[in-house]
Amino acid sequence: MNTEKSKQLFEEAKKYIPGGVNSPVRAFKSVGGDPLFIKKGKGSKFWDADGNEYIDYIGSWGPHLFGHNPSFIIDALKAAIENGTSFGAPTEMEIKMAEIITQLVPSVEMVRMVNSGTEATMSAVRAARGYNGREKFIKFEGCYHGHADYFLIKAGSGALTLGIPTSPGVTKGNAADTLLADYNDIGSIKKLVSANKNEIAAVIIEPIAGNMGVVKVKDDFIKELRAICDEEKIVLIFDEVMTGFRVAAGGAQEVLGIKPDLSTFGKIIGGGLPVGAFGGKKEIMEKIAPSGPVYQAGTLSGNPLAMAAGYAALKHIKDNPSIYKELEEKSSYLEKGFKKNLEAVGKNYAMNRVGSMMCMFFTEKPVNDFKSALTSDTALYGKYFHEMLNRGIYLAPAQFEALFISTAHSKENLDKTIKAHKEALENIL
Ligand SMILES: Cc1ncc(COP(=O)(O)O)c(C=O)c1O
Repeated sequence: MNTEKSKQLFEEAKKYIPGGVNSPVRAFKSVGGDPLFIKKGKGSKFWDADGNEYIDYIGSWGPHLFGHNPSFIIDALKAAIENGTSFGAPTEMEIKMAEIITQLVPSVEMVRMVNSGTEATMSAVRAARGYNGREKFIKFEGCYHGHADYFLIKAGSGALTLGIPTSPGVTKGNAADTLLADYNDIGSIKKLVSANKNEIAAVIIEPIAGNMGVVKVKDDFIKELRAICDEEKIVLIFDEVMTGFRVAAGGAQEVLGIKPDLSTFGKIIGGGLPVGAFGGKKEIMEKIAPSGPVYQAGTLSGNPLAMAAGYAALKHIKDNPSIYKELEEKSSYLEKGFKKNLEAVGKNYAMNRVGSMMCMFFTEKPVNDFKSALTSDTALYGKYFHEMLNRGIYLAPAQFEALFISTAHSKENLDKTIKAHKEALENIL
């Protein structure tokens, strides 16, 4: 495979952009090698700067539920751009967008649009703090909620000690209000809650985690978490930036049958444009400025192009509920193919899947939390990634990410992927 042009572009990019990329995981650091520069995408595929073709399973890290450039999103964008790119004043489309979100996700009574998932999660935590006047919040090890300072924290020695910043530039002060719990371990929540009585504003969780690979919450765990939050008057935030509109039209909360107090969205909600949103109970959301005192704002929030693309995506979801059945069938076909291959090579690697989010961990231990995810052989994943890439299959360039299936993936695409998977495993094991 000739990747000369991508290599040249990467050298050029490194002169002006830190590490040559605008978001770290794109740089292939955890799998080795140089990143590919992508030129165009259509349906289930994209093409790099050298003209190589790939079946894409990252879908821009989640947004492309219908593959690249579906006509209904392109048409909506074309129509919107004729009227102008941004006004900084309200537009009717923002109401339609808010309305359709509340229809698809019933726990969301009111919603505020922002420009990224990070903005959504940081604003949701602020809303929770402004609502109940408390300062601390709990997050789970292995869950990612964007790059706001107080999310980039790891556990100190034992979950009851103060968090430690995981990135230079994050202060100890910021870390002090972040408490860390273990995913799927209600005991760790109980300990934190009793040691910080009446001080915890919120618990934020990826209800189906996609950032330590794919890990689903256990039913009894999430039920108990909901009950503890109710009892202790803690705001429960579901971070559905990845799962929202992907695992079901109503997100992970629909799959799990649990209503959070606040939810955060991103990715699919923008139809491929930079969009996020947070919303939930009216009594909390009404604390947001200008109806309340909790400040939150954005020059480009509710941007007309972003709203047009996002609304087209959500409208398509609302009008075509059968897409989730289709996604389930395609995803389970791929999973079955992978499992058969694993059997053939005598491996019992953990394979976690919820709808069209899937992850094969290079470990034979079941993966239920961050610690078990870390038992994966990440070096082996790196080899696997390159074997797949050389066969025209583009996976996430890191083990602890999801593989995303879209409605655009054809049976032929899936068969090619299953065949590549078998050859890749045979070559690396
Ligand atoms: C669950 C979750 N929350 C928040 C974010 C941050 O979103 P963004 O990258 O749009 O800031 C991500 C990004 O991958 C995510 O997966």
